[in-house]
Amino acid sequence: MQIEKIILAKRPVGEPTFDNFKLEFFNCPEIKSGEILVKVKWLSLDPYMRGRMDNVRSYASPVEIGEAMEGECIGEIIVSKNEKFAVSELVIGKFGWVSHAISNGHGLRKLKRTNIPEQTALGVLGMPGHTAWTGLNKIANAKKEETIVISAASGAVGSLAGQLAKKKGLKVIGIAGNDQKCSYVVNELGFDGCINHNNVTNTKEFSNLIQSYCPNGVDIYFENVAGKTLEAIIPNMNDFGRIAVCGMISWYSGKGIDQAISLPKLWRTILVRRLRVNGFIIFDHKETYPQFIEEVSPLVQKQEIIYKEDIKAGLSNAPSAFIDLLNGRNFGKLLVKVSD
Ligand SMILES: NC(=O)c1ccc[n+]([C@@H]2O[C@H](COP(=O)([O-])OP(=O)(O)OC[C@H]3O[C@@H](n4cnc5c(N)ncnc54)[C@H](OP(=O)(O)O)[C@@H]3O)[C@@H](O)[C@H]2O)c1
Repeated sequence: MQIEKIILAKRPVGEPTFDNFKLEFFNCPEIKSGEILVKVKWLSLDPYMRGRMDNVRSYASPVEIGEAMEGECIGEIIVSKNEKFAVSELVIGKFGWVSHAISNGHGLRKLKRTNIPEQTALGVLGMPGHTAWTGLNKIANAKKEETIVISAASGAVGSLAGQLAKKKGLKVIGIAGNDQKCSYVVNELGFDGCINHNNVTNTKEFSNLIQSYCPNGVDIYFENVAGKTLEAIIPNMNDFGRIAVCGMISWYSGKGIDQAISLPKLWRTILVRRLRVNGFIIFDHKETYPQFIEEVSPLVQKQEIIYKEDIKAGLSNAPSAFIDLLNGRNFGKLLVKVSD
């Protein structure tokens, strides 16, 4: 049997392009005692993968040239020589951009089949959902009647953060990249408003627009994108406001960094408004995952929380889907359906 994998062929300079990736095939080796063979069904594509393509110090090691791209997957066990795992069980693991994976079971989590679609374990009930819940409750300490602004509002993290914030009684304003996304954010997710960041021509206009949506100022900014959005938010932050720094996707490929807000101006605002700016990485919050699931899973089951998925078919389409994600051309949680 042949296994497909997509490797990092070379490191990108700026935005990734197709030649940074290569599809390779190899023969499946024999499964040894203690091992399982997993057929990957779903691959999650996430913005953090851009960081793994660079050879720089970060909270996780980079992918080496020639290695399969990193990624969390759901797969079905098709061969088991490990007594803890049975054929046909579903498992979640960091198998990477591959069609099949051999594992000794270490670090895998079993996934029960329920009436909630299995792939939600990579989205609204997985890492992005847990990130939204943590950012809102543990990092920003969101409270009733506060005003929160959430960037990348229609995406995997932003869409849940906003719906949970509405349930807590906050005023919620989203920022998204086109009118269709904004309409979804307001009319389906129930946000109080949404600004299309691609409709504003300069930061001053953007900042004024945020002010008009948030006349009492912004208590919490759920930061997913940085760039001009961050610059427009800063003057609108209230005294003692909080910024939960979850991501900065607009800068991941280095674009616009040289035009960014000046550090002294930013530093002064943090000081005089007494802001709390708190970066967080979800891997440091594993202990709250059960609490998150206990709270959010019933809401998804009852459809009190909704979610959107953007599904691409076939592993070979992962590079183009990932390039699109970094340019805002996804709409909802981006997944690759690797096999049935
Ligand atoms: N800290 C953590 O542990 C953690 C965990 C998960 C995710 N994150 C971060 O959370 C953020 C959202 O992740 P996600 O999985 O929910 O992705 P997503 O929102 O589903 O997709 C990414 C979105 O980012 C927006 N975007 C892309 N380029 C942009 C640009 N130049 N300017 C403004 N917006 C841009 C696009 O939305 P629009 O079209 O609406 O602009 C795009 O759809 C990312 O920054 C990610 O790295 C952090």
